Amino acid sequence: MSRATITVDRDFTVGPVPRRIFGSFVEHMGRCVYTGIYEPGHPEADENGYRTDVLELTKEMGVSVVRYPGGNFVSGYNWEDGVGPVESRPRRLDGAWHTVETNAFGLHEFAGWAKKANVEIMEAVNLGTRGVDAARQLVEYANHPGGTYLSDLRKKNGAAEPFDIKLWCLGNEMDGPWQIGHKTADEYGRIAQEAGKAMRLVDPSIELVVSGSSNRRMPTFGEWEQTVLGHTYDVVDYVSMHAYYEEKDGDVASFLASGVDMDLFIEGVIATADAVRAKGRHSKFIDLSFDEWNVWYQTTREGDDQLRTIEAKGGWHEHPRIIEDEYNVTDAVVVGTLLNSLLRHGDRVAIANQAQLVNVIAPIRSEEGGPAWRQSIFWPFARMSALAKGEILRLATRSDRFDTAKYGDADVVDASATWDEESGRIALFLANRGLDESAEVAVSLRGFENARVLSAEVLTVPENADRFTTNDEQHQDRVGLRQLTDVAADGGTLRATLPALSWAVVQVEVAKA
Ligand code: AHR
Repeated sequence: MSRATITVDRDFTVGPVPRRIFGSFVEHMGRCVYTGIYEPGHPEADENGYRTDVLELTKEMGVSVVRYPGGNFVSGYNWEDGVGPVESRPRRLDGAWHTVETNAFGLHEFAGWAKKANVEIMEAVNLGTRGVDAARQLVEYANHPGGTYLSDLRKKNGAAEPFDIKLWCLGNEMDGPWQIGHKTADEYGRIAQEAGKAMRLVDPSIELVVSGSSNRRMPTFGEWEQTVLGHTYDVVDYVSMHAYYEEKDGDVASFLASGVDMDLFIEGVIATADAVRAKGRHSKFIDLSFDEWNVWYQTTREGDDQLRTIEAKGGWHEHPRIIEDEYNVTDAVVVGTLLNSLLRHGDRVAIANQAQLVNVIAPIRSEEGGPAWRQSIFWPFARMSALAKGEILRLATRSDRFDTAKYGDADVVDASATWDEESGRIALFLANRGLDESAEVAVSLRGFENARVLSAEVLTVPENADRFTTNDEQHQDRVGLRQLTDVAADGGTLRATLPALSWAVVQVEVAKA
């Protein structure tokens, strides 16, 4: 049995829970759009072709904001191809994913879907093959009320009211050599600054995300943020971060400690942004937009390597299957710890988007003409989005440790917590990263009394199964939540025993001491 003690204090808070950290991502990639959120003719499709089964699951997940339309895709995309009468929209080759893009789905269709899903739109502009002019024109098309060529064109195309998109990404992963129109930090910093300026001249109310490093292992990490923010500090609001984690070469310990890497990444970008702030004598802070994060198996599973040749992909197809990872119990526990890392840093991580929403590295899976179901990683996201309310609590955690090859020693028990004064509820999000042992956790709730457990749920290895268990079309509920029974509250202390390899959420009702 491992042990951990956690102390929270009513007066030690990080800040309010930023709702935008429960974001997701819809890219024109594989089957995320086509046969994912959109499939006219499907028995569950509505009059617009939106799959209502996927819409319902999106709402159940509690997604707050969705990034669109890419991703690598956006760096070769003409937004104009996706508006106007569908029958006159061009079919194009998408070089990023070696796919034929029909353009049957574009901005209007996405805006209609976002409205039904009750999510905010986070729109990315193409700074790969295009630039300042296309970016500012898209803002005018989307946000200007009317009386100009572009805003009237939007009206003619069926949207009388502006889409009023507040959040905009200035390109995608421009530091990556794989990116169409890849740039040096200076080249990108200049174009991002000018595009951002021109976009704000059209609509000063927008918020801008500048592209940071594609991941912490990029050789230019740190230097890239410094140079790019040096060019853009005055015009942008957020710098982006992307990270994907996978269990590689049998090193499950390092995989389980992926949250340590996320902590280091976040703290490194905060330090770099704040160094640029100090050097430039700026007063405002640049916050973080972790706009792609997840577990994926891109480099280890056959058939999913984006660098494979077109021949190996069997030619050009519409919406082929790409990185349709099936997530197991271990993946769900890791996703829980990544969410903990994002929440613990909620004073600076203002936006986060799990990548992606459906089919492509996604918590929701769907089949063409068939059902939609929840993957294991759906659960930590959905429950945290539903229960993390009010203020984020600072934690003092003392946990038994385990060895990892990549990150040294890491805590066996990982946690985050929120306190909602209005409802008098604390939510504790706990992960036991121990593969074989259960973990006894004691949480001291300072400044609170009369603690009473309202609900306690756990996701762990199902009986007579192993940690690689997944859900699939035939077994949609194999991995899910069940009640955590070994939990009790007494005065200002909560005690719980977490099964080996598990993620849990406990809701406690408290009074102020
Ligand atoms: O989410 C899949 C891809 O991963 C995105 O298109 C890209 O930005 C990242 O490399």
